[in-house]
Amino acid sequence: MKKIIIAIDGHSSCGKSTFAKAIAARLGYIFIDTGAMYRAVTLYALENGAIPSGVVDEERVVKMLRDIEIDFRFNAERGASDIYVNGDLVESKIRTIEVSNCVSAVSSIAEVRAKLVAMQQEMGRRRGVVMDGRDIGTVVFPDAELKIYMTADAMVRAERRYKELTAKGDKVTLEEIYENVVSRDKADMSRAISPLRKADDAIVLDNSNMSVEEQMAWFMKRYEEALAK
Ligand code: DC
Repeated sequence: MKKIIIAIDGHSSCGKSTFAKAIAARLGYIFIDTGAMYRAVTLYALENGAIPSGVVDEERVVKMLRDIEIDFRFNAERGASDIYVNGDLVESKIRTIEVSNCVSAVSSIAEVRAKLVAMQQEMGRRRGVVMDGRDIGTVVFPDAELKIYMTADAMVRAERRYKELTAKGDKVTLEEIYENVVSRDKADMSRAISPLRKADDAIVLDNSNMSVEEQMAWFMKRYEEALAK
């Protein structure tokens, strides 16, 4: 059967990963969360002194890159892959507010992007992947057969993220989450290299008022159309 690349880009915390994971499970495709890769580099930089007092030291991050080996291993219980850095499972450590606050700065470094984009292109070489991020339809796979640009109201996104983090026991406030969501949108859209933008041929999905089931029904129609092309 024909397999394609499905590129899902969009704003922070609008449910891209949940959506992409559900699509991959439905289609038997591989799901790749590229945000997790930028978060993994950020975590490594935080733990190894390249972000003293919250300020990213670009030169040190670039020097560290050769010491960072990222890989994904399938976790049958979760039905998705977990991310590992140098053999250590970091899946939950990369989702903290500390990492979220530094990841936009780390992901704006050209060398970081070059390394991760090359890995992503290799992972999608045989197609049959659903990849979510900020530059998948514009830079990583400009030839993706189906591109979706996701967005939702910033407060709706902050509330969803707040629920997720507090359910895990994280001590956060809705205000700080909202500020993080808004400032990451701004940083992601205004950075010099590969800023977040809608690819000309991407279809917009605003899921502010949509259930997961409604999003899946919306998606399946677009998928059939893309396959028929
Ligand atoms: O999807 P996420 O929120 O986990 O992504 C974390 C950060 O990584 C996001 O603020 C911007 C960056 N990112 C990126 O620059 N390019 C991607 N393809 C994916 C994420």
